[in-house]
Amino acid sequence: MNDPERIARALRDFGLGEEDLHAWQVSALPDGAFDDWLTDRVARRPAGRRAREVYGAEDVHDFARRAILDALALAPGDRLLEIGCGGGLLLRDALLLGAAATGLDHSREMVSLARERAAGAEIVLGTAEQLPFADGSFTAVAMSVVFFFLPDPVAVLRECRRVLVPGGRVAIYTTSPELRGTPAAPEPVASRGRFYEDEELVELARLAGFVKCAVVNDHGGQLLTAIK
Ligand SMILES: C[S@@+](CC[C@H](N)C(=O)[O-])C[C@H]1O[C@@H](n2cnc3c(N)ncnc32)[C@H](O)[C@@H]1O
Repeated sequence: MNDPERIARALRDFGLGEEDLHAWQVSALPDGAFDDWLTDRVARRPAGRRAREVYGAEDVHDFARRAILDALALAPGDRLLEIGCGGGLLLRDALLLGAAATGLDHSREMVSLARERAAGAEIVLGTAEQLPFADGSFTAVAMSVVFFFLPDPVAVLRECRRVLVPGGRVAIYTTSPELRGTPAAPEPVASRGRFYEDEELVELARLAGFVKCAVVNDHGGQLLTAIK
């Protein structure tokens, strides 16, 4: 049941305030849609002042960013695509390493935030399921805390493989089932995403045609790497 008290508490738990309550009210969605709306607002398609603060902050998912950058070892000559780029901090760091950087996100607000935070990167509004890029456009593809939200992960991995050059590499950071319900993956977001065991992630990448698929699991944070 979504009584006003529950809604106010849920908004508070995610650090949301009046602006977000107003956005929920004007959405005119039925009460039963609140948990989906909240999941979108805070993570799946972020919007609002608080989302811009969170995803523009230096420490947002910095552990995932570091793991991805270490795995990809970007250098001048690399062309990186980040899918679900949020506020664009990984793209900014890729530019500092001398790589060319392209970000894609389906949230308009994240697209404009990433354009601010990663000036020099190309940022595109689009969806992971249908990447608006030609075959072989990139040497590396990254996803940080996005994979969890994909309804058809193999289809997206196939898209990643399509836009990579032969030998191109992918690095994906996601959250393992043991973190379900913890601050890393709280409800109601946790129930609206997909958790995979390490071996399942490897199998998904293999199914999409990748080779040298491997997962490193650090206290429940999983880094999947693979090669086209
Ligand atoms: C939890 S945020 C993570 C943002 C950023 N990667 C980070 O680590 O801070 C998930 C991001 O992925 C985007 N996203 C989720 N599903 C997507 C999809 N199917 N296509 C494009 N973007 C997507 C969301 O809009 C959001 O910006």
